[in-house]
Amino acid sequence: MSEAGKHTNGEAVSSGSQLIPRLTLHAFMDDATNRANLEAACRDRRMTRVTSEIMEGSVLNAASHYAEQPTPNLLIVDVPDDRETAFTGLQNLAEACDPGTQVIVVGVRNDVGVYRDFMRQGISEYLVSPVTAVQFIETIASIYAAPAAQPMARVYCFTGVKGGVGSSTIAQNVAWHLAETLNESTIILDLDLPFGNLGINFNYEGGKGITEALLEPDRLDNVLLDRTVYKVSDRLNLYTAPAMLDSGFDPTPKALEKVLDVVKSNYANVVIDLPHSWANWARGVLLASDEIILCMQSDLVSLRNAKNLYDFLSAQRPNDVNPRLVLNMTEAPKRPEIPIKDLAEAVGADPACILTYDNSLFGTAANNGQMVSEVDAKNKNALALQELASLLARRSGNMTGSAKGNSPFAPLLALLKGRKA
Ligand SMILES: Nc1ncnc2c1ncn2[C@@H]1O[C@H](COP(=O)(O)OP(=O)(O)O)[C@@H](O)[C@H]1O
Ligand SMILES: [Mg+2]
Repeated sequence: MSEAGKHTNGEAVSSGSQLIPRLTLHAFMDDATNRANLEAACRDRRMTRVTSEIMEGSVLNAASHYAEQPTPNLLIVDVPDDRETAFTGLQNLAEACDPGTQVIVVGVRNDVGVYRDFMRQGISEYLVSPVTAVQFIETIASIYAAPAAQPMARVYCFTGVKGGVGSSTIAQNVAWHLAETLNESTIILDLDLPFGNLGINFNYEGGKGITEALLEPDRLDNVLLDRTVYKVSDRLNLYTAPAMLDSGFDPTPKALEKVLDVVKSNYANVVIDLPHSWANWARGVLLASDEIILCMQSDLVSLRNAKNLYDFLSAQRPNDVNPRLVLNMTEAPKRPEIPIKDLAEAVGADPACILTYDNSLFGTAANNGQMVSEVDAKNKNALALQELASLLARRSGNMTGSAKGNSPFAPLLALLKGRKA
């Protein structure tokens, strides 16, 4: 679990790249690195609907292969260095291609003239070898992005590394800032179906919220969405949990996919309040989100879980920004805690946001059904939450954690040994 590269993956897929539609992709590439990178790209969360077949070869093999067979939606081919051979190969391939097949060409020449000549052949893109997994994903996404479609939402998934760390509170406050401070249309999805507190925390009782959509996803359309979502304001919307024990169920991946598809086409930001759970469906939601925000406290259980989750999620999502850490309830009176520096070193990342324990502020907000900025906009925790919202909205990726050298476990072990100190 301690792959060295994962905290320093330097490249992330740009935030505009959305789920690539269902399509078939074939590739003929001589270069083993490019083949491996394309295989990695095909494992990316944005490519789950793509069926791929990656073969050794070049445009020459592809041309003879498809003379006999129908072409896939998307074809990626290597071209030989020799220009004449490359062009003849592409011409033969063009004759074999079904209309509608898109072709990406990979070559070794980094030259504008060559690029223009290839593009004139009607190909969709020319990429210079070696091509990274991220380049493959972004190129494919750009070919299939519908130019007329409005930009799809960003999905922010908040979860606690253990229960009760304030994850729902943080998700709700950040969503409030995205909507009310940054003026972006935002919806919060409460996926804590039996116990969710989204409605209560915004002083709203009633409605079935998200239940109907998750139980009967085929019925969900913009009309049903509009009817079941509660509008706090013009920009902030709640998809509340039923919080009823008799209707307990685990949402299916298909239902979750449908709900996310529909909400993503209606709002700029989708903030998911995911309960602390490692059920398959919850893990699926986490892995498929654009940003993951792990909320924790400065205790040993939080530290161990945060480290495990951070490592797992970073490794599973090599083409994404690493999860963000939010450290909550620091400086609680009389409560011993692990110093922030040690904690950051053990997990391998600095917290993106640190909040202090403030019973009065959070208690008042909870009792009034308000967000903390509505209670006291100048409070340092209110400002820290606002700052976190801005950080997330900037859509920039801090790809490197603060891990330095050595085994990532060494500091953790040291801490565990010194727990009485
Ligand atoms: N920084 C804080 N200081 C004091 N109380 C807090 C703080 N953050 C959250 N809380 C309170 O902790 C409780 C649990 O928060 P909640 O968001 O429901 O946690 P989770 O979703 O992680 O289970 C709530 O009563 C909330 O108001
Ligand atoms: Mg919660």
